Amino acid sequence: MKNIFILTGAGISAESGIATFRAEDGLWEKHKVEDVATPDGFRRNPELVHNFYNERRRQLKTVTPNAAHFALAKLYNNYSQGIVTIVTQNIDDLHERAGATAIHMHGELEKMLCLNCRKSCLWQEDSSIESICTNCEKRGVLRPDIVWFGEMPYFLAEIESCLLKSSLFVAIGTSGLVYPAAGYVQLARAAKIKTLEMNLEKTAASQFFDAGIYGKAGQTVTEWVEEILIK
Ligand code: APR
Repeated sequence: MKNIFILTGAGISAESGIATFRAEDGLWEKHKVEDVATPDGFRRNPELVHNFYNERRRQLKTVTPNAAHFALAKLYNNYSQGIVTIVTQNIDDLHERAGATAIHMHGELEKMLCLNCRKSCLWQEDSSIESICTNCEKRGVLRPDIVWFGEMPYFLAEIESCLLKSSLFVAIGTSGLVYPAAGYVQLARAAKIKTLEMNLEKTAASQFFDAGIYGKAGQTVTEWVEEILIK
């Protein structure tokens, strides 16, 4: 078994037209993290937070997966030497729309979490402080099902277990600045798993990878997948 573990970040969706977080024109240049991506921000101004994610959710309906998402889906569905696990920090559904299953460690834009019954529900329209939970039917208790700064990402035990059963760790389109995902390259190295970074340009984490392929994911990931599937 030669399992492949793939971690994706905002860079893989950039060519679909979704802004990354830390570019010069990125989301965190235009919005304050503490206002829209922390539990405190939500307590202070829930309307602002609902509107921020409403805007993202509406935009999601106008974009489509790009060549990198389709290439990873091809790998996910056709790789015969082991299991391909795709873990994404992205809250968009572009891996799924391209035909793969991804583990969403930072939550999903099209889900809401109920602060009353703690269940998550599918949500494809705008949400507000008046929205009603589809499970417990209570009003005003929903928040975006997004992992905010200061919160524990989802599926950590499952992710770590998949990573440690892999022979190759690939990080695609992530700046490697947000933990715990940023620490997976170190975990892989410690377990003697080969590591590959694919990104537009070198990152602060590049030095920790065995190899790097730099350029736009649409092209680099497509070529890399073709190589893997030929082997
Ligand atoms: N192809 C490949 N890589 C790209 C492309 C592209 N077309 N465009 C941009 N990139 C790279 C950038 O060079 C950058 O290194 O993608 C990376 C995106 O980095 P970030 O904006 O920091 O996004 P990400 O690493 O996914 O952020 C992690 O931070 O704010 C939180 O929860 C949020 O999940 C997010 C987490």
